[in-house]
Amino acid sequence: KTVALIGVPLEEGSGRGGCAMGPAAYRIAGIGPAMRDLGYTVEDRGDLRPEPATDLADMPRAKNLPVVGAFTRAIEAATYEAAASGAVPILLGGDHSLSMGSVSGMARYASEVGRPLYVLWLDAHSDFNAPETSPSGNIHGMPVAFFCGQAEFAAILPSERPFVDPQHVYQVGIRSVDEEERRLIAENAVNVFDMRAIDEEGMGSIVKRILADVRQADALLHVSLDVDFLDPDVAPGVGTTVPGGATFREAHLIMELLHDSGLVSSLDLVELNPFLDDRGRSARVMVELAASLFGRRILDRPTRGG
Ligand code: ARG
Ligand code: MN
Ligand code: MN
Ligand code: MN
Repeated sequence: KTVALIGVPLEEGSGRGGCAMGPAAYRIAGIGPAMRDLGYTVEDRGDLRPEPATDLADMPRAKNLPVVGAFTRAIEAATYEAAASGAVPILLGGDHSLSMGSVSGMARYASEVGRPLYVLWLDAHSDFNAPETSPSGNIHGMPVAFFCGQAEFAAILPSERPFVDPQHVYQVGIRSVDEEERRLIAENAVNVFDMRAIDEEGMGSIVKRILADVRQADALLHVSLDVDFLDPDVAPGVGTTVPGGATFREAHLIMELLHDSGLVSSLDLVELNPFLDDRGRSARVMVELAASLFGRRILDRPTRGG
């Protein structure tokens, strides 16, 4: 089994500098050796460095569109090719606008193999803005709307490409939603498990229900992990911290359940800002979580009662 590491030094979707250093930080924190230790063949495909797109005009409500759009195209192609070659793509971000490309690439792959694509969005934010609704104009707040076909703000990708059904998007950890965004996620029937749901029902029970839906649909599952899903005490290296996030243990539990399910087809690690980090701590936590998702466990058999 092969994992393909795809570096995405993209920060122009985030409104500040730093995320472009993410791929380097993940490599220093040992993402490659961690996967190799788990028995995977690791293909490091290096970093994508597209030139800004000259056919995409600047838009005041979608900042740095020529850069983000060029990355979206390159990421879409690299993710699709990695999946089609039989590998599990791991996107080393880079801000969350990279998911416009990774999820679109997986949607193309899924439609070719005749299976639906489900998305597990682990984040403090819903990232369902469109240029018209975004309070910031930062594209990293828009990727879910984009791959669901609800934010066609420019001809970045062909408009006849496969979209993700918003009802096949499961968001967990949500605790910061803008006013218009709140309306949009309700209208589009995105499945949202906010922090209250997690506190009341428990992370394990929620994730098991989600995985049962994915299995029932015989779907591929793309996992998108934003650093700010985690509590800032666990992972301070991100520009959009929101208090009251997932604990270290909750996050590991999700990863272990995902591994046991065998359903995960692809993974984004996004929003790491090494410039804001505390001696590499957040990068290391993200690598440990990825390792749990790919099979590292405390005992060499599944935990009993699981
Ligand atoms: N909702 C806010 C916005 O649209 C914040 C988005 C944060 N997104 C992220 N990927 N960190 O600007
Ligand atoms: Mn996000
Ligand atoms: Mn976020
Ligand atoms: Mn359905």
